[in-house]
Amino acid sequence: MIESNAYQTGFGNEFATEAIPGTLPVGRNSPQRVAHGLYAEQISGTAFTAPRHANRRSWLYRIRPAAMHGAFAPYAAAPAFHNDFGDGPVTPEQLRWNPLPLPDAATPRDFVDGLYTMAGNGSPAAQSGVGIHLYAANRDMDGRWFYDADGELLIVPQQGRLHVETELGVLDVEPQEIAVIPRGIRFRVTLPDGAARGYVCENFGALLKLPDLGPIGSNGLANPRDFLTPHAAWEDIEGDFELIAKFQGHLWRAPIGHSPLDVVGWHGNYAPYKYDLRRFNTIGSISYDHPDPSIFLVLHSPSDSAGVSNMDFVIFPPRWLVAQDTFRPPWFHRNVASEFMGLVHGAYDAKAEGFAPGGASLHNCMTGHGPDAATFEKASAADLSRPDVIADTMAFMFETRAVIRPTRQAVEAAHRQRDYQACWTGLKKHFAGS
Ligand SMILES: [Fe+2]
Repeated sequence: MIESNAYQTGFGNEFATEAIPGTLPVGRNSPQRVAHGLYAEQISGTAFTAPRHANRRSWLYRIRPAAMHGAFAPYAAAPAFHNDFGDGPVTPEQLRWNPLPLPDAATPRDFVDGLYTMAGNGSPAAQSGVGIHLYAANRDMDGRWFYDADGELLIVPQQGRLHVETELGVLDVEPQEIAVIPRGIRFRVTLPDGAARGYVCENFGALLKLPDLGPIGSNGLANPRDFLTPHAAWEDIEGDFELIAKFQGHLWRAPIGHSPLDVVGWHGNYAPYKYDLRRFNTIGSISYDHPDPSIFLVLHSPSDSAGVSNMDFVIFPPRWLVAQDTFRPPWFHRNVASEFMGLVHGAYDAKAEGFAPGGASLHNCMTGHGPDAATFEKASAADLSRPDVIADTMAFMFETRAVIRPTRQAVEAAHRQRDYQACWTGLKKHFAGS
């Protein structure tokens, strides 16, 4: 196992790190001979000609190039992990699920085999849209590594820590933190706490970025210095291993005779990172009403339309509610965007019960939703003369411009709540005529 070490701070910076002094070449990227007998290799995450502010690439100095492995063959051991979102009718119904059951000890699964596709839109081929997955795992990835050529992976742990060893270094991530693994970066996940569950947004579109802040000013929401990128860390082991690739919606397996985590030094701005959601600077109304949930935006993947995201990652963290003459929980609404929600910790303030940590809900384009009957009654009668604090919560949303299509396995799952709509049937008619 590669041990973790300190992190480099900042979002999308030009990082430089070497585990052995003198590894990084000076004044050029690919000298005739790299120090210590290493190979130089570039990985580009954007088009070569992308504008400078959006251009992402890194130079890796490694023991063996990434090209060295055996032939790929289809990998069939993770049939629940795919990008088959169907092309038939998709229900506009509100959907909600209980937590994805953890695997039992008799049928252990690692992070890759434990991925379960809930929904998605677009495709890797179109380079737009997202795959939305949950994972439930109880075994370390052992003697194998994974990379996703289809999209970057935004990992949201809900239960159990993840020790993520990547080509560019190690991320230790716990619930209420997130990790982002860029497209193509090879990695291995081990589970320090045994069982682990969480959510994954596989972003087929433009790379995740911090939002502009407009009138908020130069600080606020997720601050760049709180994003952490690993230092270089490497291992030099040989054996009968395997490399799992996700490519155009399907999984492939190739034999590999060594660990691909053999990068001794690297520099560049295409790298994995983590962020502690508890550091989010939550901004809201201090007078009346509350802003749209875009005020809770952590990261977003822009689309080709200005101001419209391929995907927004929005959180609902602990916060004070002080607005006057205001219905304080999220209001009833229908949006052109589609919303997949998850709950990492505590309770979500728009639902009295039924939305458990590890659970999920899907409210698609123009599907009505909002507080359940119990929450509506309580908030309508609440004493607004004093502030309220929501202290124990961490909910999030993957919001997309395109309709989110639930997979067949998610619609038919035993853990889907087929009575979800009943949470609104108790809303009383209060209208008494004019
Ligand atoms: Fe909503």
